Amino acid sequence: MITTVKGMRDLLPPETRVWNRLEETAREVFALYGFDEIRTPVLESTELFVRSVGESSDIVNKEMFSFEDRGGRRLTLRPENTAGVVRAYVEHSLAQEGLVQKLYYLGPQFRAERPQKGRFREFRQIGAEVLGAADAATDAEILILLFDLFSRLGFTGLRVSLNSVGTDECRPAYVDALRAFLAPLAESMGEDDRRRLEQNPLRVLDTKDPALAERLAEAPQMLAFLDAESLAHHETLLAQLDEAAIPYTIDPRLVRGLDYYTRTVFEVTAPNLGAQNALLGGGRYDRLVADLGGPKTPGIGFAIGEDRLVSALPEAYRLDALLRKGTVALVALGEDDRADALALARTLRAAGIAVDFDPRGRGPGDGLKAAGKKGHALAVLVGSREREQGIALVKNLALRTQDIVPRAELVTFLKGKISS
Ligand code: HAM
Repeated sequence: MITTVKGMRDLLPPETRVWNRLEETAREVFALYGFDEIRTPVLESTELFVRSVGESSDIVNKEMFSFEDRGGRRLTLRPENTAGVVRAYVEHSLAQEGLVQKLYYLGPQFRAERPQKGRFREFRQIGAEVLGAADAATDAEILILLFDLFSRLGFTGLRVSLNSVGTDECRPAYVDALRAFLAPLAESMGEDDRRRLEQNPLRVLDTKDPALAERLAEAPQMLAFLDAESLAHHETLLAQLDEAAIPYTIDPRLVRGLDYYTRTVFEVTAPNLGAQNALLGGGRYDRLVADLGGPKTPGIGFAIGEDRLVSALPEAYRLDALLRKGTVALVALGEDDRADALALARTLRAAGIAVDFDPRGRGPGDGLKAAGKKGHALAVLVGSREREQGIALVKNLALRTQDIVPRAELVTFLKGKISS
């Protein structure tokens, strides 16, 4: 037997109904906020991620699926989508004067991490990027959009963790202070943290070592090193979030695992996800477009881990998405009834009613059982008696009721049931 590759999985029905519903809701919200979809390739040049996500990140260091193609090009399965969006923005000159680009994407990402609950090697993200707007109001709007989406999904009690990582101008002084604080701790650090300390001390703030994490409570904080403009940006954002009643917590140790961030960074965690509890991450990247060869253009965005979002979904939304509300099962009772049932299926579909036709003619028991298993709430049964009398039997599988409906009234009857 050939199985899925380590860390990758199949998404099967009925669970795919939940994914589809969620994606519909996300697309609706993006449209409400003026975003357009962008789709970029799953394969990109390795160089793209080295230059954006950065050499000191875990992603570039040890998590990329990279290979050489037949032409000797170094390629990587995208580990995230911001780099690809910015590449496309530069490549297609989307930076037109005065235009703010608001782009969203849905799709698979790949990281060769050790698989565990909530952590896969192929996972999916729902993300968005705003390019060309530098002000804190844009940061606020991104978070307002996110909380709008969460409330439509039925989440309550989520908070965003926020920090500012400053700019290239003010960060070096902070990194020096942090390095000085961390130097005496190097002895007791594990191999990973010692590498991080050497390459980029900010990464140490993300340590997985609980003893070290405890010591970090006394580490110097970036917020104390912000230049006046970055501080004003941060404070304006907080005021706008207060105004919009977005619940946030300032987390002075939040630095994020990717190198391209400037100023605002944020994460949302969900309490019911276990160890891999980051539902989404994002932040501002005012340098990235220029770093990838475009005109100096500010940017900000986020990516939700869709796999995690699906497993954290409130039960009511999940159950509702699982119901096959808009469809009816059509069961032919006997072999002789198949042609009649097929004709009826065509009539119903022509009227816009989705029909899951079971042509086997195995009698009402098996037909209904199968319809129930597949999540249908309504089943239409046709047998010889129904054909002769010009009627159909409509069973409500959830309520265990049944109606005898004249064929001429069947479309109207079913439409009424489906919409109620
Ligand atoms: P990230 O924090 O690396 O940010 O990933 C965003 C989210 O993707 C995480 O919070 C998590 O929910 C999900 N995720 C990451 N790795 C895995 C995995 N192995 N298995 C399952 N889910 C995972 C970014 O990717 C940035 N591009 C976000 C961004 C957009 N920043 C600015 N714009």
